[in-house]
Amino acid sequence: MELRVKRAPRIDTEITVPGDKSISHRAAIIAALSNGACTLRGFLPSDDCMHTLNALRVLGIQIEQPEPDVIIVHGKKRVLAPPKEEIDCGNSATTMRLLAGLLAGQTFESRLVGNASLSRRPMDRVIAPLRKMGADIIAEGPEQTPPLRIRGGSLRGIHYRSPIASAQVKSAVLLAGLFAKGKTTVDEPATSRSHTEVLFNYFLVRTAKDEKGSVSVFGDQVPESRDFAIPGDISSAAFWLVAAAAQPGGHLLVRNIGLNDTRTAVLGVLVRMGAQVREAIEDVDQLEPRGIVEVTGAALKGTVIQGKEVPQLIDELPVLAIAGALATGTTIIRHAHELRVKETDRVAAIAHNLRTMGAQIIEMNDGLEIHGPAPLHGARVASFGDHRIAMAFAVAGLFADGETVVQDADCVRESYPGFEAALEEFTSSKRMRTSTPVIGSLSPMRLAEE
Ligand code: S3P
Repeated sequence: MELRVKRAPRIDTEITVPGDKSISHRAAIIAALSNGACTLRGFLPSDDCMHTLNALRVLGIQIEQPEPDVIIVHGKKRVLAPPKEEIDCGNSATTMRLLAGLLAGQTFESRLVGNASLSRRPMDRVIAPLRKMGADIIAEGPEQTPPLRIRGGSLRGIHYRSPIASAQVKSAVLLAGLFAKGKTTVDEPATSRSHTEVLFNYFLVRTAKDEKGSVSVFGDQVPESRDFAIPGDISSAAFWLVAAAAQPGGHLLVRNIGLNDTRTAVLGVLVRMGAQVREAIEDVDQLEPRGIVEVTGAALKGTVIQGKEVPQLIDELPVLAIAGALATGTTIIRHAHELRVKETDRVAAIAHNLRTMGAQIIEMNDGLEIHGPAPLHGARVASFGDHRIAMAFAVAGLFADGETVVQDADCVRESYPGFEAALEEFTSSKRMRTSTPVIGSLSPMRLAEE
């Protein structure tokens, strides 16, 4: 499939986005370990999350899916069945790394495989801590890359100081910690997304957090089965938020999105770049905050994205780079070396495609320096098989002269099934509404700084 995009008409619309990918993976896994049936609504039926569901089924968990975004997971009190086949994680590193943690706690042997792209991604980051906990885990690939062969059981709790701020690493260790003797603690150099800890608490698994941000879980706990509603994914909303922010006078309201504060750094960046952004949390009943974000666009200005902010907007960097190309002045993204080991080398992919569309951009080892504003011109650009590159360049096409064609864009299904239709609807005049500000007439629990 190709995405064909033309310059956006005036943006003034209201949308919702599909369920959060990170939360969908974790809710399904924790529900599978629980002591009964859990109905998960708002589940993201994307390729990545379906690989996690299929993996849980191979491990003996019964899962019904009465509607695409509703699943009923029948937890079996932490009892998993030895898999009769290898477990296919597709292109989902979250599936592979979280399952590595889960399987490290099982006495049977399992083998995790991935597609060609996942087979090039580093797994030493989870292998090292899981081995320290006592798991027998080997990477069969040439550079500690997949497939993974795991035989676990009798784990001991450790205090792991992760050299990288990665929620996948933290979550793999914490999931293994649920099967370990004693307490398992993870420290990271900067705080990554906190969904595993939050969902553990929601499903009544005891955790602890100290003042430095270290997270601990105590072994031998069974999650309590409960129903859960997954909020919309702010990383998917980010494509539309940037589009509205970069169009002076553009106006967008996104309802029912996850507003966990380890995920909202993208909003702060848009504020720094000059857009008007308001955030209102409407509900924290299920511990993961959800609410509304409203953006009014402006002539953006360049900014610097670096340091502890980076892990909290890592998935939004491709589309923020597009915002940088449209902004006046220089936008610098650094300390983002992790971008080089995503579904593709995103630093190289962004630089290549933005140059093709006429932007001035310097590639650095750990990021990008973008000189805007670029008069972008439509072009044929590659997705590099990476969903977020495909969607970010569809947004670039909304600001380019002529037609932009994003080739090989089926990969959008990994995180955003329905993106193509959403793109069409987003830019269709049928979606016009009056641009009366909505937040402000509510009494929000929290408003983002403006
Ligand atoms: C994710 C964590 C991030 C993110 C990925 C999803 C998760 O990866 O890029 O899309 O659900 O834990 P890292 O943990 O490797 O930074």
